[in-house]
Order: sequence, then C-alpha cells, then structure tokens
Amino acid sequence: MIVSEATATDRPDDLPLPPGPKSYPVVGNTLGFLRDPFEFYDGLGKYGDVVSYSVAGEEFCTLFHPAHVERVLVTEESRFGKSEFVQVAGEKFVGNGLFASEGEFWRRQRTLIQPAFYRERIAAYAEPMVDFAAGAAKSWNDGETIRMDEAMKRLTLRILSKALFDLDIRNQQSAIRDAVQAINDKGDAGSVDAFLPDWIPTATNRRFRRATDHFDDVIGTLIDERRGEPPDDDFLSILLHATDENGEEMSDEALRDEMATFLFAGHETTSLALTYCWHLLSENPDVRRRLNDELDSVLDGDTPTMTDLRELEYTDKVVRESLRLYPPAYVVFRQTKEDVEIGGYRVPAGTSLTLPQFVIHTDDRWYDDPKAFRPERWTPEFEESLPDYAYFPFGGGPRHCIGMRFANAEIRLVLATIAREIEFDCHSSDLDLRMGTTLEPTNPIEMTVRKR
Ligand code: HEM
Repeated sequence: MIVSEATATDRPDDLPLPPGPKSYPVVGNTLGFLRDPFEFYDGLGKYGDVVSYSVAGEEFCTLFHPAHVERVLVTEESRFGKSEFVQVAGEKFVGNGLFASEGEFWRRQRTLIQPAFYRERIAAYAEPMVDFAAGAAKSWNDGETIRMDEAMKRLTLRILSKALFDLDIRNQQSAIRDAVQAINDKGDAGSVDAFLPDWIPTATNRRFRRATDHFDDVIGTLIDERRGEPPDDDFLSILLHATDENGEEMSDEALRDEMATFLFAGHETTSLALTYCWHLLSENPDVRRRLNDELDSVLDGDTPTMTDLRELEYTDKVVRESLRLYPPAYVVFRQTKEDVEIGGYRVPAGTSLTLPQFVIHTDDRWYDDPKAFRPERWTPEFEESLPDYAYFPFGGGPRHCIGMRFANAEIRLVLATIAREIEFDCHSSDLDLRMGTTLEPTNPIEMTVRKR
C-alpha cells in the first residue's frame, strides 16, 4: 500500500506500525544494511512511503514522501529531535556544536552565530573564494592528471579557513584533514563502526581519537592566540566577541565545538559538491559547451564576482542539478520524541527517522528521467510545480543549513573561476559511492586538465 499524503490524527495508538523488510531475531536488518546500504534503500521503496526496519539495535523509519519530510523538518518540527545515534557517532569531534546541540543552548548558539552568515558577510568571503580557485587553476598544467577529490578538499578547506580564522592554515591542514577523514571512517554506514560507541577500542575508534586529540590542540592554540585581539571580520572573531542577551560570551569549550562543527560541515560538503559537478560536466559535453558559452559571454575573460552570479543562470542550474543527483548530505536524521502518526502509521517514540535526499531527489513521481543530468529542467515553471521538499539538499525548517548561502556562493564562484579556463576529462565514468558521514566517492577521482 502506498500512502502518499500525510494525514493527522490524535490517536496514533490505534494505527498499525509501518511495513518493512523481514527482520531477523537479534540482528534485525543489520546484515542486509551493512552488505550494501544502497541496495537496502532501493529495496525499501516497495513497502511504500513510510518504511520501518532495525539496524544495530536501533529502530529506524525511512520517509520517502516530500509531505512527510515537510512535517518532520518544518510544520511539526518540535515533535522530532536530533537522532541520538548520530549524536553519539559525532560526539567526540563536533561535541555540542550547532549541528548536534538541541533546545535552548542550540537556539542561543544559532542566534549568536547567524550574523556571520548574513548576505554582506558572504560577499566579503567571495574574494578569497575566487582568488584561491584562480590560484589552483594556475597551478595545474595542460595534460596533467590531478586527483580532483583531493584538490577540491584542499581548496575548500583553504577558503573555509580564511573565512573562519582569517588564516591560511595550510600548515595545520593535515591535523584538520586527518580529523575529518577519521570522522568519515567512523560514520561509514557500510561499516559496523558507525554504530559502536567511541570507547570501544576498534582500530577506527583509536584513529578517530588520535585525530580528534590532535585537532583539539590545533584549535585550542588558535583560540588562545585570538582571545583579547580587537574585533575582526572572520568567523572566529565574530564568535569571540559575540554576547547573548545577558552579556555572556561563548566559553572556550563552546567555541572549540563550533570550530570543529563548522570546519567539518563546511568544507567536506562543498568539496564533494564541486567534485560531482566536475564529474558530471566531463560526462556531459553538451552541458559543458552551454556552460562555456555562458561563462565566456558573461565574464568576458574576467574572474566572477557576487554580482555576476545573478547573470550566471545556467551555472546555477548546473549546480542545482548536481546537488540533486549527488547531495553530499544525503540523509537528514531525526528521532521521534513521542508516538507520531505518519502516512496512516504509528511511528513509536524513540524511532530514528531517515529522510533520504538521495532517494527523494531521484523519484520519478517528481522528476522526469530522474537519473539524467539535465540542468535545463530547472525552469521557473518546473520549480513552481515541484512539491516542497522534493528537493532539499540543505535540509529545511529551523535547523536548515546555516552555511547554505556560503556554500551556494562558493560552489558557483569556484566552478565559474576554474571552468572559464579549464575543462577536465574524467578517467572513469563510474562513480562508486559510499554512505559515509557524507556521500563520498569510494575511489580516487582522477581527471586530466585541458586548458581551454
Ligand atoms: C554543499 C554544501 C552543503 C550541504 C549539502 C549542506 C547540507 C546541510 C544539511 C542537509 C543540514 C541539515 C542537517 C539536519 O537538519 O540535520 C546542514 C546543517 C548545517 N550545516 Fe550545512 N551543508 C553544506 C555546507 C555548509 C557550510 C559551507 C557550512 C558552514 C560554513 C555548513 C554548516 C552547517 C551547520 C553548522 C549545520 C547545522 C545547523 C543547525 O542545526 O542549526 N554547511 N547542512
């Protein structure tokens, strides 16, 4: 039975539990999930829009309908909290930062941090975005093979470090990147480590601890150095000088957690988005030609500015379509605080909900030829006809991505800056992906540089 619309009832007790795949004693659906999470998700579709199963002792319910997503993230968001198992997995690294915290503490932090992401601040970050991208383009030779995934990570980390600390942290990059890699390994949904607490001494957990300890030292030193300095434009300075309505500043611990959160949430995601754009462009020469035409006519040989972005309409569509097919944050997790009716079923309190962008974004109920890369589908009429939350790469509601404007500017500016000079030939047309903390390629992404 496919239940397509959310219907509210005050009596969830009388309703049946959602259907789902056969669950085995003790292990539930853990083995099927770990064997191949993509295949597992594929198999859930036949049970309808609300599907339940259990993995590693956690009760899960996946929602495939945009109307259900909207209820969870927006209209009834107070009935759903952050998922505890995600918080446990990320706790040692992101602590009680904005991504993981809840309640009054989250609200206070979000209010203190929000000004760093106002439109005019983002405009100030545009210059390093373009300069560093132009520098990267210059450093590549015609015919050279580069590791695109690595190159984009280096670039977005440099941009973010500049925005966060007003610092070129190239020397500390390894500590930061090690920590990000270790948290990704820890979050790999295809591995049992994702479901184990940090204190169990597996090799992944030990690497995770070492990397986060080193990271703490680097961030601690940065905070110490900056305390007492006059206010500046970067994120750390804004946070160091921010006070709440009682005049209280952020503690060192809160600052450390926010730095870890923003470093993690803010560079891995955008680097993946760019990597997928380059991959899709190299596979779709017609799209690439249209993009070149737009860049040549709008930029006329110059590097792009924030103002140019308004005219780079096709570039915008390329990015949108790429985030549709390969959303770096591929699932939003929540947990029910009480028994809730969803789609005619009773979802018990304490259930982990997954709202999978990577499935909903390619559902043929909302998208024609859903697996095809077709930037031109993003016409105003199409957007008008698309149900809300059939597309939500940045989440939604009060917990939507605070870095969305930053990311949107960065991806488009970096793409335009590099693409106006260079085309890339991807060495393999297959993208083998894994569900880590983000949706990431399993293998190195190698590309050959072709100067235009
Ligand atoms: C393509 C790039 C990005 C994507 C796809 C993305 C996606 C998301 C999504 C889906 C959420 C909501 C998670 C939830 O509701 O549980 C989120 C939250 C968040 N994002 Fe992003 N993000 C991106 C870039 C960034 C950047 C550049 C930053 C910071 C500079 C950032 C910082 C955050 C933070 C701190 C949160 C938590 C917000 C809160 O709970 O109040 N993200 N992001």
